[in-house]
Amino acid sequence: MAKKIIKPASADASGQGPRIALVTGANRGLGFEIARQLARRGLKVLLASRTLTKGRAAAKLLAVEGLEVEPVRLDVTDPDQIKTLARDLRARPGGLDVLVNNAGVLLDPRDGRFLDSRQATYERTLATNVLGPLMLCQAMLPLMIERGYGRIVNLSSGLGQLDEMGSGTPAYRISKTALNALTRIVASDTRGTGVLVNSVCPGWVRTEMGGTEAPRTVAQGADTAVWLATLPGDGPSGGFFRDRKQIPW
Ligand SMILES: NC(=O)c1ccc[n+]([C@@H]2O[C@H](COP(=O)([O-])OP(=O)(O)OC[C@H]3O[C@@H](n4cnc5c(N)ncnc54)[C@H](OP(=O)(O)O)[C@@H]3O)[C@@H](O)[C@H]2O)c1
Repeated sequence: MAKKIIKPASADASGQGPRIALVTGANRGLGFEIARQLARRGLKVLLASRTLTKGRAAAKLLAVEGLEVEPVRLDVTDPDQIKTLARDLRARPGGLDVLVNNAGVLLDPRDGRFLDSRQATYERTLATNVLGPLMLCQAMLPLMIERGYGRIVNLSSGLGQLDEMGSGTPAYRISKTALNALTRIVASDTRGTGVLVNSVCPGWVRTEMGGTEAPRTVAQGADTAVWLATLPGDGPSGGFFRDRKQIPW
């Protein structure tokens, strides 16, 4: 039986209502779990999915748990959709406080090697995993800077660490290294504005992307992203984290 819906509680001390969070690719996997955990903490969550029917179905699942989230359509590779969403958010009272760039693809064949890799795989992977978050940061940052508060979390991966860079899934690896560069650049450009920007590696998590052999649950994988999305004002910016601890680039 459906539980009574709990509307987002006031999550900021200023009395201006709950913090508003946008989570991309939130219809399943880690994005869905991040949306759930943020809603549980009292944030108003915009659950973004590229297919609105999937987002609505995901929102209904959370409603059964008593969590109210708002499904929004967003294909992160579509600049027009990003601009329209930013315009809509600007027209609302709360703007946007938190952006979780979660949507991602892993299109390389399993154990795919560099010499066998194809240009189209790089183009599609970089469009979703790098250009999407980049365009979203550009569109949403002004809303955050104006209000002196923002948290941006980029879902990266240990496969993007230069420190441990090796072969296999080259398009995915390169995309996550580039995403980490975006984190550093945006963190640097927003220093002193109240916006904190960080990358997270969720570990190897049981989702459609991670597969059934992955050791971590989505709840374990989402924990550090949720922590970064709700950091206090004196929290870190420009870092790369796993299990709430900084890791090398
Ligand atoms: N699972 C792991 O072990 C692991 C490890 C390290 C990092 N990560 C990262 O964590 C993030 C989430 O991974 P996951 O395991 O939850 O993956 P997943 O189960 O494959 O889910 C990916 C999500 O991204 C969405 N998506 C893909 N392309 C999109 C686009 N163009 N616009 C909007 N949404 C799009 C998918 O939507 P559809 O349902 O419409 O396809 C889906 O909701 C990714 O960035 C991934 O690289 C995962």
